[in-house]
Amino acid sequence: MAILKILHFPDPRLRLIAEPVKQVDNKIRQLLDDMLETMYDAPGVGLAASQVNVPLRVIVVDISQQKNDPLCLINPKILLRGGSDLVEEGCLSVPGIYEMVERASNIKVRALDRNGSPFEAEVDDLLSVCIQHEIDHLDGKVFVDYLSRLKQERIIKKMEKLRRRED
Ligand code: NI
Repeated sequence: MAILKILHFPDPRLRLIAEPVKQVDNKIRQLLDDMLETMYDAPGVGLAASQVNVPLRVIVVDISQQKNDPLCLINPKILLRGGSDLVEEGCLSVPGIYEMVERASNIKVRALDRNGSPFEAEVDDLLSVCIQHEIDHLDGKVFVDYLSRLKQERIIKKMEKLRRRED
């Protein structure tokens, strides 16, 4: 396993549209394991392959307190959306920023698991929000996109300051 480098907003690579996984093989399972390790280390509750510079439709999430309930979704697709919730979100690619975003409160999602078997799940609350946030990454979207122009500009300035400090 390995801890992968997480791209930071506004890195243009976060805007790529991720490609579907053609075959769930050992390489993909290695990617899932590395992504989980990276997410737990950060620590975060979700990570999309796009965030670690792998433009494939792969996400991992774990909203459990004990960090022992990982969910891997390959080629995830939202089949149904219901209700709406305003929830505070953050993102490992936008460190230190937390803002309210409106999402569907419950969704039905279809994906492949780490063995390549298809499954469907109906989820709500935090898990629903988390999966929607991660699938957005696969479509080149970041939660900052939902905020006002003014907030977006402020966040870009903050991120630039952070990057200068890291260089
Ligand atoms: Ni994110």
